[in-house]
Amino acid sequence: MARFDGKVAIVTGGGSGIGLATTKQFLSEGAKVAVGDFSDKAQEVIEALNTDDNALFVKTDVTNEDQIKNLIQKTVEKFGKLDIMFANAGILNDGDITDLELNRWQRTIDINLTGVYLADKYAVEQMLKQGNGGSIVNTGSIHSLVAMPSITAYGAAKGGVKILTQTLAATYAKQGIRVNAIAPGYIDTPLLNAVNPGLKERLTKLHPLGRLGKPEEIAKAVAFLASDDASFIVGDTMVIDGGYTSV
Ligand SMILES: NC(=O)c1ccc[n+]([C@@H]2O[C@H](COP(=O)([O-])OP(=O)(O)OC[C@H]3O[C@@H](n4cnc5c(N)ncnc54)[C@H](O)[C@@H]3O)[C@@H](O)[C@H]2O)c1
Repeated sequence: MARFDGKVAIVTGGGSGIGLATTKQFLSEGAKVAVGDFSDKAQEVIEALNTDDNALFVKTDVTNEDQIKNLIQKTVEKFGKLDIMFANAGILNDGDITDLELNRWQRTIDINLTGVYLADKYAVEQMLKQGNGGSIVNTGSIHSLVAMPSITAYGAAKGGVKILTQTLAATYAKQGIRVNAIAPGYIDTPLLNAVNPGLKERLTKLHPLGRLGKPEEIAKAVAFLASDDASFIVGDTMVIDGGYTSV
């Protein structure tokens, strides 16, 4: 029996990078997976993956409350319930505070923090209604824990994700809803296309392993946290960073 047989998961931002690798991991371990993502490319990727009618794409902007409600509703309509929420969608578009216009700050906070709040809010509501717990994993970052010059709005949002995770974990542990977060180091995904090649090389050197992470290495940790193997892990922000925050 596979670890996620009979389980239903939602992955936001599941059409690329870490979210896509996690969608594939969940599917390979028996889950049914609904992906909420706002890009057309994501839709193509997920529809191509859906060979056994166990994957569902729901076009969703995570900053839009009605669209998040719709994502949960469509998931429950199709698969009958919700066991796992991976609130993962995020962007990197940042800079020094003096150059960071209010609209760019706001967009980062909206997607990277408010998007997690909305996904968690309606996942918790659904899980409470079902009455048999659930598991939520939020995507933070090493910048939930340590700063980097110019990572201004991103760091503020990811720091917020860490404490939001702890707050929800403390609030809903008694109802059997475990809430955790991940703190990946720099991972080789399209998100890093936003940084110039020189910076990518410097970022690589900040990891004692001497390389960037792979999305699949994050997906395995998410699957662990989401599974019953992590039954006593509550409110954690799990570092998966090739040693970045150890030095
Ligand atoms: N790549 C890294 O180095 C790294 C490191 C730490 C944390 N993270 C975090 O991991 C998460 C995933 O990043 P990734 O590297 O896989 O990036 P990615 O760009 O490969 O994938 C992000 C996905 O999120 C989707 N998305 C973006 N905004 C959205 C919105 N408003 N509504 C719905 N979908 C939206 C995109 O369409 C895309 O499919 C993000 O939260 C990111 O901050 C990434």
